[in-house]
Amino acid sequence: MSSAPRAKAALPYAALPYYEQTAPGTGCLPPRTGYARTDAARLPLSGGWRFRLAPRADAHDDSFADPAYDSGDWDRIEVPGHWVLQGHGAPAYTNTPYPFPLDPPRVPDENPTGDHLRVFTLPADWPAGGESVLRFEGVDSCARVWLNGVELGEFKGSRLPHEFAVGGLLRTGRNVLAVRVHQWSAGSYLEDQDQWWLPGIFREVNLWHRPDGTAADHFVHASWDHERDEGTLRVESTVPGRVRVPELGLDLATGESATLPVEPWSAESPRLYAGELATGGERVGLRVGFRTVAVEGGLLKANGRRVLFRGVNRHEFHPETGRALDHETMRADLLLMKRHNINAVRTSHYPPHPAFLDLCDELGLWVIDECDLETHGFHAVGWRGNPVTEERWTPALLDRIARTVERDKNHPSVIVWSLGNECGTGAGLSAMADWARRRDPGRPLHYEGDRSCADTDLYSRMYADHEEVGRIGRGEDRDGPPARAELPFLLCEYGHAMGNGPGGLAEYQRLFETYPRCQGGFVWEWIDHGLADPRFGFAYGGDFGEVLHDGNFVCDGLVLPDRTPSPGLDDYKRVIAPVRIEAGESTGTVRIRNLHDVLDLGHLTFSWAYEAEGEELSGGRLEVPPLEPGEQAEVKLPPAPGTPRPGGESYWTVRAVLSEPADWAPRGHEIAWGQVQDTARRSPAPATGTAPRSADGGLLLGPGVLDARTGELVSVGGVPVRGPRVEVWRAPTDNDNGAPWLPETELARRWRALGLDRMRHRVDAVESADGAVVVRGRLAPDASDLALATELRWTSDGERLTVAVRVTPEGEWRLPLPRLGLGLALPRTMGGVRWFGAGPGESYPDTGGGARLGRWQREVDALQTRYVRPQENGARAGVRWAELTDGDRALRITGDPEFWFTARRWSTAELDAARHLTDLVPGDSVWVNLDHGQHGIGSASCGPGVLPAHRLRVARARFAFTFEVLRG
Ligand code: GAL
Repeated sequence: MSSAPRAKAALPYAALPYYEQTAPGTGCLPPRTGYARTDAARLPLSGGWRFRLAPRADAHDDSFADPAYDSGDWDRIEVPGHWVLQGHGAPAYTNTPYPFPLDPPRVPDENPTGDHLRVFTLPADWPAGGESVLRFEGVDSCARVWLNGVELGEFKGSRLPHEFAVGGLLRTGRNVLAVRVHQWSAGSYLEDQDQWWLPGIFREVNLWHRPDGTAADHFVHASWDHERDEGTLRVESTVPGRVRVPELGLDLATGESATLPVEPWSAESPRLYAGELATGGERVGLRVGFRTVAVEGGLLKANGRRVLFRGVNRHEFHPETGRALDHETMRADLLLMKRHNINAVRTSHYPPHPAFLDLCDELGLWVIDECDLETHGFHAVGWRGNPVTEERWTPALLDRIARTVERDKNHPSVIVWSLGNECGTGAGLSAMADWARRRDPGRPLHYEGDRSCADTDLYSRMYADHEEVGRIGRGEDRDGPPARAELPFLLCEYGHAMGNGPGGLAEYQRLFETYPRCQGGFVWEWIDHGLADPRFGFAYGGDFGEVLHDGNFVCDGLVLPDRTPSPGLDDYKRVIAPVRIEAGESTGTVRIRNLHDVLDLGHLTFSWAYEAEGEELSGGRLEVPPLEPGEQAEVKLPPAPGTPRPGGESYWTVRAVLSEPADWAPRGHEIAWGQVQDTARRSPAPATGTAPRSADGGLLLGPGVLDARTGELVSVGGVPVRGPRVEVWRAPTDNDNGAPWLPETELARRWRALGLDRMRHRVDAVESADGAVVVRGRLAPDASDLALATELRWTSDGERLTVAVRVTPEGEWRLPLPRLGLGLALPRTMGGVRWFGAGPGESYPDTGGGARLGRWQREVDALQTRYVRPQENGARAGVRWAELTDGDRALRITGDPEFWFTARRWSTAELDAARHLTDLVPGDSVWVNLDHGQHGIGSASCGPGVLPAHRLRVARARFAFTFEVLRG
């Protein structure tokens, strides 16, 4: 508890306006279960509403709530929606800083306030009798509500439902609903999540009928006993009624329990039983999933088995509508997740739209449901005044956890409650935990911000590095209280997916698979929150003129804002695949491991293909035993067809696909793959034998013309070329930039300080000798005696041209290089690319698990990954050869050894200078990088940097490329 003085409001509490009071609100009904499938009448109030924006909370009196008020000159706005995304005011982004003075619970006078009006006609057949309730699923951040001129009350808690009883106020025919929404309220102090500040009525508003005698609330308890293979169902209800589950032949009284053989619910096998609860004049549809979640023997178990989270953190986001999400978007998120082997979602950092949880129940995702609570910005003042430490806020905190638990308690997918995110520690959190434990002993509690784990059942961390996770796994983390050592461990956030990356996911996964206590994690995060904006492509912090902002830190997802999967998602899919396919011990065998929690392999069909140089020679079905979870087998692969081509590279590709359509993917959807080498690549022979000749200030060498002064190529086989030169710079990724609050992570800043972004090139000699042209030079930063001495040795056999490169470092280099290789420019017409190497997507040393060896073809434009803030992207790894073509001729580049290939329509300097996608304008060249080395990506934008194995240390290097122009 903080003993620091409490911030004082200048006014006595009671004199504060409602929106500045810490109390959660007045007039609302008690929280209850949400979105029930009732057959009671409903009137949706979504659609066009009348709207007026004021710059202050007190700009207008409340006369607009009078049903006779004439709002004829007001604008119209879509509800659900945010007014700042509909032409009124502007969005603003901050990560942790509150965009107003820290003076809780007071807010500034500049408090954008949106008055909303909705005139509706009560349907003529609206049932008489009973009650009617007006339910708001989400209003950011504080609403005051009137119906037909009568004030109903006000509430805070943006991502939580609120209901008012309105039966007595409804009129036949015309009704007028008035809602005043303040952007800032005392509640804003509890909602400092890292996201855009987006005020408005952003979830649905409905009028529901509540027939006489119906249950105000019900609680479905459906457990599963894994030792007896039996489920037990009991439904509590506020009024007695009947519970029926026809498929199970159940017809019970509420409160009564029945135990019987059933199939359990799990993320892998989301078995739901349809049922109903009948009370009074209402039937409420139930979807019963039997499962038991418990912490036992230091492990989090579902149905008696250890759970391994292959998770993501999901904010609700749409690039046009912000946090107002339609059902198709929610479904699209879940289908994409399931298709990428993701089995868990943490609803960071608030309860999602309730329909999202329905979909999780149906499609199968483990959910950590997080309360709408974050007070991170108080860290800026040493956590002084942090609401969770001050009693006056406790009613608001309890209200929030109650609204979370009560709304979502009937979802089988929800297996853990999370108290909130980044609120420090304090008695308020303990009060929330006590309440949640009492109300729902069936779900463990999560909260990351308290290392003592006093109020939680799980030890959770964010961004712990691999080394620390290993220590925790081995039980060597002795810095915490002894009780913590007995708790299951998870990374509620890891793998910061900002821009290019994250790197290092595979190494985390090995730790989760090695140490039972390490039960996986949740990548940060699902989607980039870039707002669609024609000025920029996608906008991020600062683009709306915000003075205080956190730039593109809001774009850190596995999918781009328009939900295009980024290469990071493909990488994650492979890393977390529930089947591992890798070379077996003996030649010509493949090892298959079933890493599912529950399913055997019976639902998958395995196939093999034998490929030589990327061409499939034969293939067929592979018989794999239906291994149980945890089992593995070594399976013999069919022999190579015929005799492999000498020197050629050949391998088997083994794939596991769905045998039958699933609810989330068609039959044939690929779950896992692996490749097993048969014959290895032999180093390509350099082109030698033809001597250089001088002509017109140039040097002719086979198909190549070199500039006698610079030693650079002028053309090869008639294709104009600029370069190649040895290059080391890449446009820093967000992970190269590191985290501004941890200077030691800011690698790109140190690269620039050293001058790696503006290396000086010098040519010392261009010599013809021994049938070669040898170009000696030096590459060095200003103001330093560090250098890379370079030698490019050009040879030819008359048809082909080889350049053998040697790089020798001079001086004491202390930083890794961004990249090391050759850069050259070709005419813009050379825009088609084919390559044999990893693909089709991008890879860096510690990413790209989703890329496989094969022969691929793409246009240069399609090789780009459109990260919201432009940065290094699009490298293809393990490339044996690549061709660039204009349709008539192709320049083939063969590497010795394999290399990283990148081609784009702008230079590295242009990419580096760009701030938004719209800054990238195709020029006259195709810029090509042929890299011998790339520095890894890591996760230092918020997490660990590049692991030692993936750093590009400065060292002597030798590599070669052979160029050849093919026609026709
Ligand atoms: C965490 C936080 C997230 C997000 C992330 C960085 O500290 O919980 O909300 O800010 O860092 O992107």
